[in-house]
Amino acid sequence: MGNQAKLTAGGKDFDYPVLSGSIGPDVIDIRKLYGQTGMFTYDPGFTSTASCESALTYIDGDEGVLLHRGYPIGQLAENSSFMEVSYLLLNGELPSKTELDEFDRTITRHTMLHEQLMSFYKGFRRDAHPMAIMCGVVGALSAFYHDSTDIADPVHRRISSHRLIAKMPTIAAAAYKYSVGQPFLYPDNSLSYTGNFLRMTFGVPAEEYEVVPAVEKAMDRIFILHADHEQNASTSTVRLAGSSGANPFACIAAGIACLWGPAHGGANEAALEMLKEIGRPERIPEYIERAKDKNDPFRLMGFGHRVYKNYDPRATVMQKTVREVFDALKVNDPLFETALRLEEIALSDPYFIEKKLFPNVDFYSGIILSAIGFPTTMFTALFALARTVGWVAQWNEMISDPGQKIGRPRQLYTGPAQRDYLPVDKR
Ligand code: SDX
Repeated sequence: MGNQAKLTAGGKDFDYPVLSGSIGPDVIDIRKLYGQTGMFTYDPGFTSTASCESALTYIDGDEGVLLHRGYPIGQLAENSSFMEVSYLLLNGELPSKTELDEFDRTITRHTMLHEQLMSFYKGFRRDAHPMAIMCGVVGALSAFYHDSTDIADPVHRRISSHRLIAKMPTIAAAAYKYSVGQPFLYPDNSLSYTGNFLRMTFGVPAEEYEVVPAVEKAMDRIFILHADHEQNASTSTVRLAGSSGANPFACIAAGIACLWGPAHGGANEAALEMLKEIGRPERIPEYIERAKDKNDPFRLMGFGHRVYKNYDPRATVMQKTVREVFDALKVNDPLFETALRLEEIALSDPYFIEKKLFPNVDFYSGIILSAIGFPTTMFTALFALARTVGWVAQWNEMISDPGQKIGRPRQLYTGPAQRDYLPVDKR
């Protein structure tokens, strides 16, 4: 008999199999628990729940480790490219030069949007939040690509996966252009995935746009750092939407909606707004006290994480990238000093030490994006752009799992027991 976990419930003993992955915590397989005990488990927020098997990304929150298909995020950020990491997440192995060139060519040739989709933007107010536009336009993709929404067909899944990865930069860049009243630029197939995005965002028809290599490299690295992250809230949203058989475009739109929240992907925008509100380092103690005050809803945005109880390895790379971008653009932002000082003070404060609150991926990213020229409202849209490959890879992994079934959690019911209807004159 393999490893078992014993549970005593209702005066009876039950044994449940303990399953082991390749690395990381074992799981107790409780799929038969309700049938045998008549009880549910209770785990709001899923702090102790594994929702699926996955071979894509491994996180060790205590050690601050993040692996994509076994490769440490620091090595990928240093040596790889977003296109190569996208191939790795989708296919499981690093590509050969030929495979990478072929993948790059395929993605490049899907970057254009159906011309009628571009008219969707005109329906939004100019000051619409780019995430509102992303939710709408990505969901609308399912109205244009009927030829690749049979999710049972692996060829359809591959085409719609490539379309989503390829079109997100065009959609995000157009959302920015629309907000500043500038014309959209079509993709330029002679540029890299990230260079093309920068040109569609910051280029204008009136002159040539020159991609700055150091900025292209920093942007590409930021995309790598955001590509995938195990079963986070938005990825779980995509999986749950996909479990009903919804088409991939609708599932990714659901993921974008979930990512928008300030507790999740919206934290990068909130973190920079917080640093702007703090302004000078002398005001940091006031905000540290507010973050510790249970009666104050204020939290240090960009700090803390459900899984990392150590430094988020992505934040380490992000902090290093700030200096590279400042040097390349010959800029400086006093908010970086404020951020460094805030981190230093927080990490020496007993509250943050005891609760193991460290900077996460969102703490420094806004400083880089702001230096490159993005408004804070675009930060989460960039997160969604990069996370699309992770969402799509996780969706493919789920759909191709023969054991996959619709996700349908239960509840602890606390409402009224059955009672009879009373006519209004009897109430
Ligand atoms: C992302 O899941 C992922 O992988 C997400 C992500 C990804 O790549 O997909 O990594 C991206 O979303 C990063 C997180 C971005 N969010 C923020 O930076 C927002 C600020 N952080 C928090 O709101 C919070 O830390 C969460 C939401 C990130 C995690 O919250 P948990 O795991 O539910 O923890 P919790 O809210 O129960 O906090 C534990 C304690 C609480 O105090 P007590 O009730 O135990 O007394 O720590 C406190 C919290 O009040 N706390 C904070 C804090 N974060 C947690 N106190 C002050 N400032 C903070 N930032």
